[in-house]
Amino acid sequence: MLRVNRKLLQAFEDQLNPADPFSSTIPFRILGYGEISTVFQIGDMDDLALKRMPPFASREQRTQYRRVLEEYHEILAYRIGIRVADYLCEELTNKDGEHILYIAQKRFPEDSVGNRRLQQCSDEELTLLLHQLLENIIKIWEKNAQDEPGEQIGLDAQISNWAFPDWQTGKTPKPIYLDTSTPLIRRRGRELLNTQVFLKSVPSFLVWIVKLAFLQQVLDRYYDLHLVLTDFVANFYKEGQPQWIPQAIRTINRFLSLRAPHLSVAPLNEKKVRKYYKEDAFIWIIFFNFRRLDRFLKTRLLRRKYNFILPGKIKRF
Ligand SMILES: Nc1ncnc2c1ncn2[C@@H]1O[C@H](COP(=O)(O)OP(=O)(O)OP(=O)(O)O)[C@@H](O)[C@H]1O
Ligand SMILES: [Mg+2]
Repeated sequence: MLRVNRKLLQAFEDQLNPADPFSSTIPFRILGYGEISTVFQIGDMDDLALKRMPPFASREQRTQYRRVLEEYHEILAYRIGIRVADYLCEELTNKDGEHILYIAQKRFPEDSVGNRRLQQCSDEELTLLLHQLLENIIKIWEKNAQDEPGEQIGLDAQISNWAFPDWQTGKTPKPIYLDTSTPLIRRRGRELLNTQVFLKSVPSFLVWIVKLAFLQQVLDRYYDLHLVLTDFVANFYKEGQPQWIPQAIRTINRFLSLRAPHLSVAPLNEKKVRKYYKEDAFIWIIFFNFRRLDRFLKTRLLRRKYNFILPGKIKRF
């Protein structure tokens, strides 16, 4: 049962300076940084992971986002049958009158999160882990093939978006999906998610470039299984585990041809994975550096509040 101490959360939010989160007077840990959100453990709420979304422009925008998130969770968990982390949405207004949303989940041990498993696994474990993930992932594209073009579901399958809590118990490690905060549902070609939510984290002088060049491309790839898997493997570079790439590609290709020929997914190859990673890293490094510049302009020159929590320098391999 998830129980959030609302008073503590409100107090945390009211004193948080996103431009300098470490000045917080309430103890916290950062469990993960995303492109747009930050996952915290706060105060004595040890059993919870609290994901702070960037402030919404209005109450309505927050409600609308929340509806899509809830629907995405329902579809993944109940219509498709993927294990998805239970969650609670906590809405609050902070001292600056901003519309804030935290998504609370049960906190899984750090060692059980996919990227950590990847660092610690053996050859056999990697194959097992990949099979478990693929069995889940293909269910989405089986549903998509049935529902086309009415409804399409996308997924960001990156290894850090899954937890394997029963890894230690000796049972087959069943993955649990964590990252539902980018709810990807298309109905008759229309994205339900209002992408303004993402654009809010983009420096204003860049919005139009991101809109034109990247956003559609970044979202599109989560609906295409070949690209989702390419992205999944390419991300091993970022996780500092490129040694697993050849084995992962072989396992995925074998799985696709034996277990999922009906989905007609083109096999992956190493050269393309590498090229994809370079292009992707380029997109995010540019994006990230502009955001740092934007933070500098806002906080130092204009002395305004900066509302996004940026990671330190991201190490890329
Ligand atoms: N319930 C949880 N328990 C433990 N750790 C978590 C939990 N949820 C998230 N994390 C940690 O935080 C990291 C980031 O979380 P998540 O993938 O949900 O968001 P994100 O990648 O930041 O999302 P986005 O890119 O959409 O902003 C995870 O990789 C994991 O390490
Ligand atoms: Mg993630």
